[in-house]
Amino acid sequence: MTQERLWFGIITGSTRDVRVNLQVAEWVKTFADARGVEATFEIVDIKETGLGRFNEAIPPLMTDQNYENKAQKAWSEQIDQLDGFIFVTPEYNKNFPSALKDHLDYLGKEWHHKAAGIVSYGSTLGIAASLALRTTVSNLKIATVEPQGAFSLFNDFENMTTFKPMAVHEPRFGEMIDDVVAWSTALKTVRH
Ligand SMILES: Cc1cc2nc3c(=O)[nH]c(=O)nc-3n(C[C@H](O)[C@H](O)[C@H](O)COP(=O)(O)O)c2cc1C
Repeated sequence: MTQERLWFGIITGSTRDVRVNLQVAEWVKTFADARGVEATFEIVDIKETGLGRFNEAIPPLMTDQNYENKAQKAWSEQIDQLDGFIFVTPEYNKNFPSALKDHLDYLGKEWHHKAAGIVSYGSTLGIAASLALRTTVSNLKIATVEPQGAFSLFNDFENMTTFKPMAVHEPRFGEMIDDVVAWSTALKTVRH
């Protein structure tokens, strides 16, 4: 039996004009592409979706994906086709940014029964943000793998602006890619 190639979205977490987020997401893509796994990785940038603050009258789970909001519909189609995710999030006030929360809230079933890895960064490695994100995405039936990327603004960035991760992260990060591919493959049997 030939294994169908899995498709992963590397979801950005910050929408600031001066964000370092995209640099980290690009590094994740380069690393994942070089891993040689049966999967395709694409950056899904929440700054480009045109979605503002969540302001829908009907909760996404009750709409059967018949969204009137055009940007929400496009976001739904983008997420629906993916088999899994790698969330790349900074930490803002011991949490993940509200822009990422809005993008999660905008959808329901599109997230269900898929696996995800988390990459966080901040002055304290973004650990609080990643724990909060694990709790939130579990409500959306996303299974998060244990290995994660956790980068320090002081040690993994030059002048806190240019992403230069220490090589010591690579074995665990590789484990994260392998696990997220394995779990997404397994969860494919659960999805309809
Ligand atoms: C409003 C705000 C709150 C922050 N709070 C935290 C925090 O609680 N913990 C932390 O480790 N870093 C914190 N930081 C530092 C950010 O993680 C750091 O600025 C990072 O570069 C932000 O990611 P971005 O540039 O991709 O938006 C905060 C930054 C901002 C702007």
